Amino acid sequence: MPLLIKGGRVITATDDDHLDIYCQGETITRLEANIDPASVDPDSEVIDATGRLVFPGFIDPHVHIHLPFMGTHARDDWASASRAALAGGTTTLIEMICPGPGDEPMAAFEDWHARAAGTASVDFTFHMAVVRFDDLAQKQLRQIVSDHGIASFKVFLAYKGALDLGDEDLFGCLQLAKELGVIVTAHCENAAAIDAMQAKLLSEGKTGPEHHEPSRPTCVETDGVTHLATLAQLTGAHIYCVHTSCDEAVNAALAARRRGVNIWIEAVAPHLVLDKTYAELPDFEGAKYVMSPPLRDKWNQAPLWNQLRARAISTIGTDHAPFDFETQKKAMGRDAFTKIPNGIPSVQERIDLIHTFGVKAGRLGYRAFVDACSTQAARIFGLYPRKGTIRVGSDADLVLYNPDKKHTLAHTTSHSNVDYNAFEGWEMTGKSELVTVRGKVQARGGQFVGETGTGQLLQRTPTHF
Ligand code: URP
Ligand code: ZN
Ligand code: ZN
Repeated sequence: MPLLIKGGRVITATDDDHLDIYCQGETITRLEANIDPASVDPDSEVIDATGRLVFPGFIDPHVHIHLPFMGTHARDDWASASRAALAGGTTTLIEMICPGPGDEPMAAFEDWHARAAGTASVDFTFHMAVVRFDDLAQKQLRQIVSDHGIASFKVFLAYKGALDLGDEDLFGCLQLAKELGVIVTAHCENAAAIDAMQAKLLSEGKTGPEHHEPSRPTCVETDGVTHLATLAQLTGAHIYCVHTSCDEAVNAALAARRRGVNIWIEAVAPHLVLDKTYAELPDFEGAKYVMSPPLRDKWNQAPLWNQLRARAISTIGTDHAPFDFETQKKAMGRDAFTKIPNGIPSVQERIDLIHTFGVKAGRLGYRAFVDACSTQAARIFGLYPRKGTIRVGSDADLVLYNPDKKHTLAHTTSHSNVDYNAFEGWEMTGKSELVTVRGKVQARGGQFVGETGTGQLLQRTPTHF
């Protein structure tokens, strides 16, 4: 059914105007100051957006849904993750395909794609992790880019022996990415330093979750960013540092940018609103807050917000990685923090957290908010202007947002398949009231009302030459 959204304040990364929006089929077909309902299809649903903000559908450029990791699996599937995303106003997810080093890239792509196809209720694409770089892997990586519209790789400098790529292969991967015009997203932490620090701390009897951050302090992340940037400088590859957690690492990335390195920076919601004292909570409660890079000293949050406001940090994702507290984090990591599955779920909470602690707190203007949570991800990852903005011809992915609605985050209202909420009891200001994906209403009032499985794999063309 066509949709006429009347009277809303339409906010994009560049504009902020009162406009009516008409959506026919899957796209936005009219965007005008006042669209007369008599001028549109009489079967249209007319939605009153008076007093509401209208945003382009939000894009989360960093989620884990199917994730075999640290001897276990993340808890979501595409049905639950989509519902969580939609409840929070996110209409496109970019998932990391993270196979093991023994797996073939094409089989991994097919596996991850099959899990999303027919189950996802948001649109989606993938970053293809490169965890091996032999001849077969290179051949298949080329095919994944050319035949399946995947225009970004993922590399890990961390997780020694599991996901990390040695320097020789990392250099080769960056060369290949440059040749193909593919951007390389990267988890930047020095894997060998982490291994050594973990062994040292455990040998001193320091086994609790509060020792996770000291095992990989800010200099370990900064070293990873600097190292990757050096190889990018040599190869000319375009790089994107995921989940950049601290001022020091951001400064290393900005220094590389000043040298001419094509580098983009991602922040994630947990680092912007949580700090390392959460991982120090007693009775193993801190395990809920173990992620990598770790939660940092609180003072790092201000420079992250400031660089977002300056648009020097491009995007805000989540790094949604849902592991249960009772049966996974708690059970597996009781005797050693190194065995706690890393990750903090927040795909449903991201937009309200950033609205509350960013926009409402005066740290971020609305246009910068839209830029960081939608537009930049679309631009960097080859989805713009189909996604990431509101204009005639764009997909009708829209979020009607009540900026004054107060609500409380809770596990009981979370759609993610995980047994805790890292933000339990937090008071939010602002909530998505209606969410559309390609012209179909998929969520109302935080509840999924759409059809499961309507999400599409988005075809992307490499642009990062
Ligand atoms: O702690 C995290 N970040 N878990 C998910 C895997 C990753 O490094 O992104
Ligand atoms: Zn990571
Ligand atoms: Zn991640």
